[in-house]
Amino acid sequence: MNKPVTILVGTMTGTAELVAEEIADVLSDRGVDNDIALMDDLDATSVDADKAYIICTSTYGQGDVPDNAQDFFEALEQGRPNLSAISYGIFCLGDSTYQQTFCFGGIKFDTLFADLGATRIGDRKEHNASEGTLPEDEAADWAADWHDLYSAA
Ligand SMILES: Cc1cc2nc3c(=O)[nH]c(=O)nc-3n(C[C@H](O)[C@H](O)[C@H](O)COP(=O)(O)O)c2cc1C
Repeated sequence: MNKPVTILVGTMTGTAELVAEEIADVLSDRGVDNDIALMDDLDATSVDADKAYIICTSTYGQGDVPDNAQDFFEALEQGRPNLSAISYGIFCLGDSTYQQTFCFGGIKFDTLFADLGATRIGDRKEHNASEGTLPEDEAADWAADWHDLYSAA
């Protein structure tokens, strides 16, 4: 029996939240308990060993995590909780127009979770807004693939 999944959302204009809703629908259809949490009010104690996580975040500024994710990111970086019991997946939203910092917000979270001992399931998804596809359209396929790996882990 897999642990429930919390989808953590870092967003400025809501696109990552739409992606999270698609992922949540796929998990629900497959019988996985899940919820969506905006990162706004999270801190270093928010990551729970009884759950798995999908991080769903865009990138802003000079390759930064979105404003609503900054406190959470810094709290993890400074508090350095042991995440060795945690499995996670990651869906990054970015735009290759920002060549030097493409999807850096998600890459920063991926690197930090791995540094803190968490185990990534599946490949890091990097959606490129310049490709003309909607990230929420790609989210369902990605989530189905992620769930296949998660349920086999
Ligand atoms: C002011 C601004 C800065 C951005 N900076 C980056 C960046 O450095 N790297 C990147 O890959 N995408 C960057 N993006 C693109 C967004 O991450 C992308 O459009 C994303 O889909 C927005 O998702 P959101 O609505 O959930 O915030 C930027 C967008 C804006 C408007």
